[in-house]
Amino acid sequence: MAMRWECFLLGMLAVAVCKHTVATLVTEGVELKVIWPNPRTINMAMANFGVPKYGGTLRGNLVYFSDEARYYKNTSYRCHPRDCRYGCDLHTSSPPIKIDKEPGTAYIMMVDRGPRDSDKVDACYFLDKVYNAQLLGADMVLVADDKEEALTTAVAPDTNDTAIERRNLTASAAMIGKNDADFLREQLGDGKTVLVMVSWAKSIPESNLVSWEYWTGTTDSCGNVCSERVEFTKAIYKQAMKLEQLSLTAFTPRYFLYDCKEGTVNTPECQSNCFSNGRYCAEPSGDYTGKDVLRMNIRAKCLYRQAKAKLNGYVWWEYMARFFEACSMSRGQYNAECAGTVFDTLAKEYDIGTRTEWDQCATGVNETAPTIEILEDDLISQLGNATSPPLAPVLILPTIRINGGQYRGSLEASPVLRALCAAFPDGHEPAVCNEIWVSDDECQGPHGEGYIKCNVGNSNGMTGCINTFKGYQCTCGSGFQMIMNPEAYFEETCKDINECAVSTTPYRESACRCDRCACINNIGSYKCTGPRENQCTPENNYGGCWHGTYENVTFTNCIDTIAEYKQKSYMGILQDNDTWHKCGECPKCFRSISLGCEYLCSPSQVCDVMYNTCIDQQSGGERTPNGGKAPSASVGVHPGLMILVALGAAALTGGVVMATNHIMMKKRMADEIRDIMSSYMPLQEEHARNPPSAAGQGPSSGNRGGYQERIIRPDEDSDEEGRVGAYGWSTGQPAAASAVLKAGAGAVPTLMGASQRAAWAPPTSATAGTAPVPGAGPMFSSPSPSAAAAAPLKPIAPKPTVDAFGGAEDERPQSMAPPAGDADPLLGRQVASSSSSVQKSSGEENPFR
Ligand SMILES: *[C@@H]1O[C@H](CO)[C@@H](O)[C@H](O)[C@H]1NC(C)=O
Ligand SMILES: *[C@@H]1O[C@H](CO)[C@@H](O)[C@H](O)[C@H]1NC(C)=O
Ligand SMILES: *[C@@H]1O[C@H](CO)[C@@H](O)[C@H](O)[C@H]1NC(C)=O
Ligand SMILES: *[C@@H]1O[C@H](CO)[C@@H](O)[C@H](O)[C@H]1NC(C)=O
Ligand SMILES: *[C@@H]1O[C@H](CO)[C@@H](O)[C@H](O)[C@H]1NC(C)=O
Ligand SMILES: *[C@@H]1O[C@H](CO)[C@@H](O)[C@H](O)[C@H]1NC(C)=O
Ligand SMILES: *[C@@H]1O[C@H](CO)[C@@H](O)[C@H](O)[C@H]1NC(C)=O
Repeated sequence: MAMRWECFLLGMLAVAVCKHTVATLVTEGVELKVIWPNPRTINMAMANFGVPKYGGTLRGNLVYFSDEARYYKNTSYRCHPRDCRYGCDLHTSSPPIKIDKEPGTAYIMMVDRGPRDSDKVDACYFLDKVYNAQLLGADMVLVADDKEEALTTAVAPDTNDTAIERRNLTASAAMIGKNDADFLREQLGDGKTVLVMVSWAKSIPESNLVSWEYWTGTTDSCGNVCSERVEFTKAIYKQAMKLEQLSLTAFTPRYFLYDCKEGTVNTPECQSNCFSNGRYCAEPSGDYTGKDVLRMNIRAKCLYRQAKAKLNGYVWWEYMARFFEACSMSRGQYNAECAGTVFDTLAKEYDIGTRTEWDQCATGVNETAPTIEILEDDLISQLGNATSPPLAPVLILPTIRINGGQYRGSLEASPVLRALCAAFPDGHEPAVCNEIWVSDDECQGPHGEGYIKCNVGNSNGMTGCINTFKGYQCTCGSGFQMIMNPEAYFEETCKDINECAVSTTPYRESACRCDRCACINNIGSYKCTGPRENQCTPENNYGGCWHGTYENVTFTNCIDTIAEYKQKSYMGILQDNDTWHKCGECPKCFRSISLGCEYLCSPSQVCDVMYNTCIDQQSGGERTPNGGKAPSASVGVHPGLMILVALGAAALTGGVVMATNHIMMKKRMADEIRDIMSSYMPLQEEHARNPPSAAGQGPSSGNRGGYQERIIRPDEDSDEEGRVGAYGWSTGQPAAASAVLKAGAGAVPTLMGASQRAAWAPPTSATAGTAPVPGAGPMFSSPSPSAAAAAPLKPIAPKPTVDAFGGAEDERPQSMAPPAGDADPLLGRQVASSSSSVQKSSGEENPFR
């Protein structure tokens, strides 16, 4: 029964096929040009398998192994014809033939059709020839016809064996006529080089809104053709839906129809598989009749139509993907009920109209009416009407028509998307087209054209390569930006990006962002320093600077310049060899001597840092040199005044620094940096946070209270430059110098902001040793750097990139569906119709060989 049906179908189809073959199956707009030595344009018919390079061109050497072919450049090798001319085998010649490939060169291999009418050698499939040539290294395979006749579309037979080959095929394939093949053989002569170019650039009509049709079916139980259809649907539906949602494409699903003319209407086959007296027929599949299939196709068409009315026609893709998943024929789920379940789940997510509307559309079809509108639509699209044949009639399944033009190639997401991309005008391709699984990646090293051309011999720093749909683009490498060089006629050059200054990216890394971290710009990149340890500590030997201990207090001229260091970082001028400390001037009450500093005060004196002078301890605060005093009367005025002055100075300094920042840095960084900088701006922080109550509390400091803050800031010189230095690092009990410093300390609150400073007095030295100051508390606290850390940079939310195709891996096809194949291998020269429709015809014409 099955066999009879198939033969019968072929009979039906022969009519349709013969009617259109000659007129339409010629070149599909793909051109083969001989470039050298003798130019000529050659017609080709693309095969229905392989991977065509839509939108692209392929330029390379023609390869053809005649029976006398030399290979490995060895004249004594003789090639077995089955291997060489016909490409049916690879192993009968010894040593096995191989294309001597030069890297970076494409090879277009010609093989002969056949052999035909030969008792000795069996012909082999087109597919085998192409696959074998690919194994030899061919990028494209031309099958030379052996008779002068109209070109036909080569089809791959649908068997389990050939499925593997089709799946592994990456070359594209086409057939050329005998005359052209003879011309090529002549050109090749005795091992000459022939340069050819194949262009798919204009093979698909272009438009801004690409309309396309996918001819398919709802059945999933017809061998490889069906499983490839299912795979393809699953692989491409997300991309297809997104293209629709972005209004880049206008997609129409189509269902292939057979007819039952020629007086066969009353046969059982026609009765069970056709509507409308044999006008619309579908192939039976699995346990289901053609009528069952037609009904299911109508349901899918109805869904498409009513969803499209809501501008959601693309939901058809998801419907089909879910339908194949849930309503498999092999599991006996191919029925209206299952389809309805799929509809209901989709209706929850998308506006696709109501279930009632859908059911009415599907069941309202009068199966005996002379015409059924919803099917007639596909039929006219398939074959045209009496007066206007379609641009590309649909004779083979699967078929994809793009802008009315025929897609030829395997039914896989990648080549189909590529063909869709080729239908957009140059430069208007959707983003997915530039992705390397869709278009060739010329930037791929080491042989990619872009990889080579962008990297080599380019003096202006362009070392980056961006893959585009129709080629590649050389750009500045990462870490560089394009600038016009006014000194060189505005030539475009690539300039290093100073990431530390113009970008917040480095400061999102904790190794650049932390309190004592900084960013160093490199050519093409940047480097985070990680925490830079304070060098002015005993452990670090005071950075190699002078230090000396007097009365248990160690003094040093080492200055921690981390703030300056960080400022350089923000300005992008920090260098690897910059240091974050320096050996400065001698501390107050010290004088510079040849090998360091010398303390000036006698044991009975203490240092008044404010006035840089030694004063008698006993005199309770009177200065020795000028005997001047700070009468308590004036002290009453001083504290507030001093603080005001200090605040003013701080504001001024801060203002200047901030102004500088604004000029130096990009505006968008300012806020983040201000946060950080503020913790390194000693003056304003200090004074602002040190309340007036800090002054004048201790008995002996009463008359000096107003100067507290000044006195405890031995590093005031540096402050104006925005850096903080620590002249002293206490090692024990406070001594003479610190005695004064400690005056009134009991009331001095801990200065939490001064995190970066080395403490003049240790945080824990709570009592005022020799100093006649009661209750001296910690003057400075040195909290862990993080406590007063700069507010961490708020990461700027990355701009959402609009990528219709979702960079997400899971949205790409997981696996490339195997190309669609076709029926059984047989000798015959007609274009095959659908899948199993061409079976075992005993004729000699065969689309497979
Ligand atoms: C060519 O092949 C023959 C037979 O294998 C071998 O003896 C000869 O050395 C080869 N010649 C060259 C140039 O490789
Ligand atoms: C082809 O493979 C499928 C499973 O992969 C198997 O069910 C089927 O029987 C095979 N067909 C032939 C002809 O070997
Ligand atoms: C097909 O390709 C896969 C990997 O892509 C490989 O493992 C397999 O061996 C190939 N099959 C044939 C028949 O070459
Ligand atoms: C279906 O169409 C046939 C032929 O036009 C007609 O005779 C029949 O009444 C129709 N059936 C229904 C239910 O409309
Ligand atoms: C055939 O189709 C064309 C275009 O689709 C249309 O303009 C024409 O009217 C149709 N002719 C007939 C006889 O239906
Ligand atoms: C210095 O420290 C030592 C030990 O901590 C102590 O014995 C000594 O009295 C201190 N000297 C002065 C002057 O504070
Ligand atoms: C740091 O290195 C740069 C070049 O790498 C050099 O020009 C500069 O003088 C060096 N600076 C110091 C302080 O060594």
